[in-house]
Amino acid sequence: MKALILSGGAGTRLRPITHTSAKQLVPVANKPVLFYGIEAIADAGITEIGIVVGDTAAEIREAVGDGSRFGVKVTYIPQDAPLGLAHAVLIAKDFLGDDDFVMYLGDNFIVGGITGLVEGFRSDRPAAQILLTKVPNPTSFGVAELDAGGRVVALEEKPKVPKSDLALVGVYLFTPAIHEAVRSIEPSGRGELEITHAIQWLIDEKRDVRSTTISGYWKDTGNVTDMLEVNRSVLETVEPVIEGTVDEASEIIGRVRVEAGAQVTGSRIVGPAIIGANTVISDAYVGPFTSVSEGCRIEDSEIEYSIVLRGASITGVRRVEASLIGRDVEVTPAPRNPAAHRLVLGDHSKVQISS
Ligand code: G1P
Repeated sequence: MKALILSGGAGTRLRPITHTSAKQLVPVANKPVLFYGIEAIADAGITEIGIVVGDTAAEIREAVGDGSRFGVKVTYIPQDAPLGLAHAVLIAKDFLGDDDFVMYLGDNFIVGGITGLVEGFRSDRPAAQILLTKVPNPTSFGVAELDAGGRVVALEEKPKVPKSDLALVGVYLFTPAIHEAVRSIEPSGRGELEITHAIQWLIDEKRDVRSTTISGYWKDTGNVTDMLEVNRSVLETVEPVIEGTVDEASEIIGRVRVEAGAQVTGSRIVGPAIIGANTVISDAYVGPFTSVSEGCRIEDSEIEYSIVLRGASITGVRRVEASLIGRDVEVTPAPRNPAAHRLVLGDHSKVQISS
């Protein structure tokens, strides 16, 4: 069995973070979302992975490399334009051959991995196995309609009036039957070959399409609240370790990882939290459910329940909560005079000011 990871797409929903970075590389507990997917695939015993890449190909290649550090072999498959998930299967045909495969959308996060699913699929081999999860916003997803017996009767892509709250999760298991399906469908209203339509084609052809409903799922629907939540749940499982330096005047409480080269002085860190490599925390408080990436500086400030990306600095500010701070961002206090907020914000930024 092989795996096909889709790692193209523009990531408009997570702007401004995705103006400068591929959405699949947005970190959860300081690790790109995509890496959790690769690890889940490797854990399921699949070692041949094709990654479909688009405009952000160079960045994805640099992050993932040849896959050896995950114990897998990665083949990159360039997609010239984002023409849809079923189009990605079309162009990956040479890589996939006649093998069964799992298709994994690189911006999806599944708590608990896919090992059990892959095992079930390997023994039963239905034409397709889809995953569903209940969501509060089904209009942002593919949506499944099930009959009384729980069988999938119809799928609809981003319906205006959803027939259920069961969204298609971005992990699909296929036999080679899908190749005929992706060749048989037409582009959708948004001009894409939809995998949802290809699976509907299999249903119409009376092929065996099964579904499993899961919980513990996250996707970049643009909702920073959700992203903080997934970060929180992953931090709960972080192994506490101090690889950097923590001085006598500092206090580390609970599940905290201080990565190599990080320096903590005169500060209090209450876990679960991660302090990234070469980050400096001085005279600061870092509260629970905070991920600070590498090369950051938090000085004379308080921060809690937040994600801070590479190279950002927060100095002399209390108090930052429930925030997502992008790469190389600087947060500082305003001078006393004039008493005004001074903002230099990139496109699509969002700021909430308490005053
Ligand atoms: C795609 C699929 C959709 C599915 C979603 C899951 O949407 O088209 O059916 O629910 O992935 O991530 P997209 O992310 O392309 O909008």
